[in-house]
Amino acid sequence: MPHRTLWPEAGEGAVFVIDQRQLPHGFVVARLASAAAVALAIREMWVRGAPLIGACAAYGLAMQTSEDASDAALARTAFALMGTRPTAVNLAWAVDRMITRLQALPVAQRRAAAWHEAALICDEDEAANRAIGEHGLKLLREVLERKPGGGRLNILTHCNAGWLATVDRGTALAPVYAARDFGLDVHVWVDETRPRNQGASLTAWELREEGIAHTVIADNTGGHLMQKGQVDAVIVGCDRVTRRGDVCNKIGTYLKALAAHDNGVPFYVAMPLSTLDWRLNDGLAEIPIEERDARELTHIAGVADSGERVEVRLTPAGSPALNFGFDVTPARLVTALISERGVVAANEAALATLRGGNGSAAHGG
Ligand code: MRU
Repeated sequence: MPHRTLWPEAGEGAVFVIDQRQLPHGFVVARLASAAAVALAIREMWVRGAPLIGACAAYGLAMQTSEDASDAALARTAFALMGTRPTAVNLAWAVDRMITRLQALPVAQRRAAAWHEAALICDEDEAANRAIGEHGLKLLREVLERKPGGGRLNILTHCNAGWLATVDRGTALAPVYAARDFGLDVHVWVDETRPRNQGASLTAWELREEGIAHTVIADNTGGHLMQKGQVDAVIVGCDRVTRRGDVCNKIGTYLKALAAHDNGVPFYVAMPLSTLDWRLNDGLAEIPIEERDARELTHIAGVADSGERVEVRLTPAGSPALNFGFDVTPARLVTALISERGVVAANEAALATLRGGNGSAAHGG
């Protein structure tokens, strides 16, 4: 793919994004020209994935500065953007970073600074993901060395933490791309990821575009494959990691971690520092878990053989449904976290070695 998942329009009034609701059946680019449009696109998941919603929100604030760059207007917009999706901390991280940068400046200088800072967030995201890819590649090469007979590496992933979920390159899929570039024979088991099917719709599409061998599996298949020795490693992304290493990610991640633990399969989490929330400790108790419309569960959308888009009901009319977007995998089930600053164990002492430094430091870090 020649371009990123979001890019500013020349003249700095709007951004273009890929409308991910249309994938894999249509590649549609949408233009977002106001903070309200950005908030809607995040809430309705035209854009999704923790790093991408953070970057997009940063541009939402940049658009706000074109209208009214006063402290009050920025605070209102920041509040609206942060309220769109509660779980991924990258959103608050990016908004806080923008507000801190802008409030330090006279109002007249805020517009230019805001567009610059949002672009910086995007560049840093791509750089972080490339570094995650290189660190992850080292782990994958070790996994391959330990594999009797070597050969093909089978990676299982959940949801979409590829380049579609970031500005570019992806987090969980960055090591897969690095492995491909290095010349390893890599195959990805793609969890369909009910109910929104980010695996079946987005990861499968992305990997097909990249020419990477992959197979879509039902969410319930991973444990069986692990028992049969057909998964060499699990790599997932994350929406928030606490200082003790609990990992919040797409609903169903926890079950994969349990199965990986039971079968001695390494369970790696790709974690840009923008996803580390140093303020929180106990993930299950403290991370807000998004609950989405039950219709995502009771109905399913796709394309008929005729090419017509259709949405059909799956469940009996009247059966209640409950739709949590995320779950928490306790640190003890995480083999390692792959950050842009290196690979660390999922515990407070190891995570502390990643703190501080430049603007990409952890939230609260
Ligand atoms: O609800 P989504 O599609 O935004 O959820 C995405 C995930 O859970 C990803 O795994 C996570 O955001 C990491 S993306 C690099």
